[in-house]
Amino acid sequence: MAKQDGQPLRGKTAVITGAAKRLGRASAMALAQAGADVAITYRHSGREARQTVAELADLGARALALPCDVTDEASVRAMLKDAASALGRIDILINNAANYETVELDKLTLRQWDQMFASNARGPFLVSREALKYMRRRKTLPPRLHELSGRIINMGSLGGIRPWATHAHYCSSKAALHMLTKLMAKALAPEIAVNAVAPGMVDLGERAAAAFMRRMARQTPMHRNGYAEEVAAAVLFFATGPSFITGQILTVDGGLGL
Ligand SMILES: NC(=O)c1ccc[n+]([C@@H]2O[C@H](COP(=O)([O-])OP(=O)(O)OC[C@H]3O[C@@H](n4cnc5c(N)ncnc54)[C@H](OP(=O)(O)O)[C@@H]3O)[C@@H](O)[C@H]2O)c1
Repeated sequence: MAKQDGQPLRGKTAVITGAAKRLGRASAMALAQAGADVAITYRHSGREARQTVAELADLGARALALPCDVTDEASVRAMLKDAASALGRIDILINNAANYETVELDKLTLRQWDQMFASNARGPFLVSREALKYMRRRKTLPPRLHELSGRIINMGSLGGIRPWATHAHYCSSKAALHMLTKLMAKALAPEIAVNAVAPGMVDLGERAAAAFMRRMARQTPMHRNGYAEEVAAAVLFFATGPSFITGQILTVDGGLGL
């Protein structure tokens, strides 16, 4: 049986936005390892997306990469149509694509604010709304309610819970996404469970961030920053766990937000 051989997502399909690299890639790999077929999307990172697709295929997944700008309705519609026609349907949607920027509050422009909200808050709303028609089951299928559930997993942030003074637009957009998570959980039940993973400091091995990462590790109760695989494990939990868990924001931060 698929559920007993370590592949709880065998036969399931997933779309992960902005997953050519970094945390999105880690989530895609975790879902593929669990047996899912995976469509990743990219905007500028075409080369990395092709590499990730090759690595997903090495894990035995049916995998493809599709271009998508999550701020653009036509682009989102075209991506989901292509994903659903390649994968058959969509069981799991991970709204991962986002932007991050450091700007002093008094220097923050309206353009920066609007662009942040367009990708980080409006994007997940748009992709989710357009994905619903590929996620909802036909009424005749299947008889057991707990098998009906699709999953939407939003990538939130500790910054959507704690105010970071030089990230007003980023933090506010992630707080909006956390509320959208709860709202969608209520609106889309019982067909779809909706949850969010809110990472704290994740060390992605960037040399430019090394000093900052060391400082953050000292402030973190677990005395270190997180790994991409730990964030992906939380995503996998929501993808495979009980559908009775919905509307939750799971912080993955080593206790930094406490
Ligand atoms: N890294 C962290 O420590 C951390 C901490 C807290 C929360 N998070 C959240 O976790 C998620 C993943 O983090 P990350 O650091 O891996 O993200 P990231 O590298 O900042 O962004 C992921 C991808 O989003 C895509 N993207 C940006 N704007 C887009 C748009 N308008 N349309 C489509 N795609 C777009 C980019 O794709 P292309 O490269 O293809 O252009 C990018 O590679 C994000 O939601 C982030 O906010 C991360």
